[in-house]
Amino acid sequence: QIGLKTKRIGQRIEYVESCTSTQIIAHQLAQENAPDGTVVLTETQTAGRGRMARKWDSAAHKGVWMSIILRPNVPPQKAPQFTLVTAVAIVRAIEEVTALQPKIKWPNDILLNGKKCTGILTELQSDADGIQALIVGIGLNVNQDKEDFDLEVQGIATSLKMISGQTVNRQELVRAVLFYTELYTQMYIDEGFGMLKILWESYSTTIGQPVRARMTNHTLEGIAEGISDDGVLQLRTLDGKLHGIYSADIEMTN
Ligand code: BTN
Repeated sequence: QIGLKTKRIGQRIEYVESCTSTQIIAHQLAQENAPDGTVVLTETQTAGRGRMARKWDSAAHKGVWMSIILRPNVPPQKAPQFTLVTAVAIVRAIEEVTALQPKIKWPNDILLNGKKCTGILTELQSDADGIQALIVGIGLNVNQDKEDFDLEVQGIATSLKMISGQTVNRQELVRAVLFYTELYTQMYIDEGFGMLKILWESYSTTIGQPVRARMTNHTLEGIAEGISDDGVLQLRTLDGKLHGIYSADIEMTN
């Protein structure tokens, strides 16, 4: 037990020393009716995965690799906002446990000094009745040194320790992440995105900046003006048109 301060999230924690991916285990548990708030936590993953079928580097005993099963009573189109809400929760948790001030890059990257320290992967189990489960995967780089990362991500990834120069207590961090995830997901379910959107924008590096958005078949350049109430990025191109971006890779162009 890790001294949780939550009522729903983490009441059941499946801890495994090693696994393929906590997402895979969480999907299985969700199908076997695991309750809302069930958490899968591991020390290392052999097939950790990221968005867009990328692999996620999960050094043993150095990070927080976990998946949270949520069963919110909301329509499926509200699923993407859970990623944004979780990003705010993780930033708050990092701020509480360290002296660092992370930023959010739309939609789901958390950055320190412009490098990625956390990724979030939200996957959906749904049917005709709506959302059955949301599997929110969190990969938080905590105590890695540069050499702990695969060569191909060394230039773009960082850890809390690499920026702060201090080893961070991972239990404390898990406790804080679960606490803020419960607080903010509940706020989102009860009150909608309004307040959380203000918080999200205050932590964002993307808003107000010139960006390039790469989508599957095309690319748009412009200013990221904000996000809509449903989490869609609003990008204004040079011709003055406003575009809603649902999913893309964002690159700052200044
Ligand atoms: C991304 O930035 O592309 C998302 C990365 C998500 C990684 C986490 S680590 C725990 C969970 N299990 C996985 O296989 N992926 C997520």
